[in-house]
Amino acid sequence: MSKTFYIETFGCQMNAHDSEKVIGTLEHEGYIQVADEDEAGLVVYNTCSIRDKAEQKVFHRLNEYKRMHRNGKRFAVIGCVAQQEGERIFERAPYVSLVAGSASYRNLPQMLARLEAGEKRITGLDDRQTDETFDTEFTVRSNPHRGYITIIEGCDKFCAYCVVPYTRGKERSRTSASVLVEARRMADQGFTDIQLLGQNVNSWRDPSDRMSFAELLTAVGSISGIRRVRFTTSHPRDFTRDIVEAIDATLTLCDHIHLPVQSGSSTVLRAMSREYTRDWYLERMSWIHSAKRDISISSDMIVGFPGETDADFEETITLLDAVRYDSVFAFKFSPRPNTPALSMPDTIPDEVKSERLRILNDRQREIQREHYGRHLDQTIEVMIESYNSARGQIVGRSSQNKTVNFTVPAGAAQPPIGSYLPIYITRTMPNCLVGEAVSGAVPVQATRQPQPFVVLN
Ligand code: 5AD
Ligand code: SF4
Repeated sequence: MSKTFYIETFGCQMNAHDSEKVIGTLEHEGYIQVADEDEAGLVVYNTCSIRDKAEQKVFHRLNEYKRMHRNGKRFAVIGCVAQQEGERIFERAPYVSLVAGSASYRNLPQMLARLEAGEKRITGLDDRQTDETFDTEFTVRSNPHRGYITIIEGCDKFCAYCVVPYTRGKERSRTSASVLVEARRMADQGFTDIQLLGQNVNSWRDPSDRMSFAELLTAVGSISGIRRVRFTTSHPRDFTRDIVEAIDATLTLCDHIHLPVQSGSSTVLRAMSREYTRDWYLERMSWIHSAKRDISISSDMIVGFPGETDADFEETITLLDAVRYDSVFAFKFSPRPNTPALSMPDTIPDEVKSERLRILNDRQREIQREHYGRHLDQTIEVMIESYNSARGQIVGRSSQNKTVNFTVPAGAAQPPIGSYLPIYITRTMPNCLVGEAVSGAVPVQATRQPQPFVVLN
């Protein structure tokens, strides 16, 4: 039992991909992953603290661990709550023996050795000093067709509401050469869809000064075998026009940009320390709207930031109308430890936040209902993701990042997961498209045979 581990992950795509790298590292150190925490010698919990609810989940889960704590079983808390709470976790959950933030994962092998030697209080905590990134050739990707590559870690933006600069360390980029080596390796293994990751992915700066971010996108999109390249999350402050030009020029770059605005009011944006105004953001939207390709746009928004007036909130609603997003993730402001917004006056009552969230989501649903109508009668290529046997439908994703539920003509074979197929859209909904596979279309498979779960070298 001692060299087995179980891992559970919460939070963003960065965390999901960190777990893939942690799994690879553990396996390289001789550990075997098991699907059930009861069978594991080591239980690893990769945590998120972006909002209070996410953090509560962690401590709730740690309480459950208490019951299953037995002789010999060890517990590790890693990720954003680990970094944020540090050694306080040992006090709240004394059976935890390892607490590590993401900026210390490259030291995992040493920390594991200390764990095996019986140490009870091991910490890997970041002091915003490290310049190193966690690159490993042992990544175990859970999906054999679509895979993440982290190109920039940490955050130097310090938005007033956000924990990330405190939980993920200072901003540090990988070289273009190391990113391209990993992308080519993935293409060789049969991956066709690559997603470049970073808290502020477009703040990536090549430490070797060879490429701009837009050039890196084009270079990854030009790798033989790669059919789709995405990147998330972009920051408006560093969003340059050549990114749109690169998407226009390179068909493998997906026609989707996630560019969180957070608020439509310049006053609130200033209080949030976002370092741009509504007009600055709208100018970037106009670049995207005037692109040759129909680029979908998504955003994150926060309602109820301290001091947000009805008039400020109204500006967020009018921004929705001006941009016509393809999707919006909206959140109630949640005060977070260490952040400047924690001590800001003029807090908004929870009922007001809830009401603003409801109004925002209702308006956005209406916009999407109309806006998605433009896809009716279009033929759109999707990547097959799963089968919904209960509804007799196949689920795919478009380059614009939209879910497409479809059927195949009677007698036609099911297209394999990970293949690409053109779908004729017959119905549009606020959150998805519905259609049927074009009669006679042959699914395009990965150019090379996928080899899931192999160790890269
Ligand atoms: N409260 C509410 N939402 C937040 N986000 C980040 N910090 C907070 C917070 N303290 C949202 C932002 C960000 C997304 C990932 O989570 O919209 O873009
Ligand atoms: Fe959660 Fe942010 Fe950490 Fe991702 S970076 S796990 S969203 S707190």
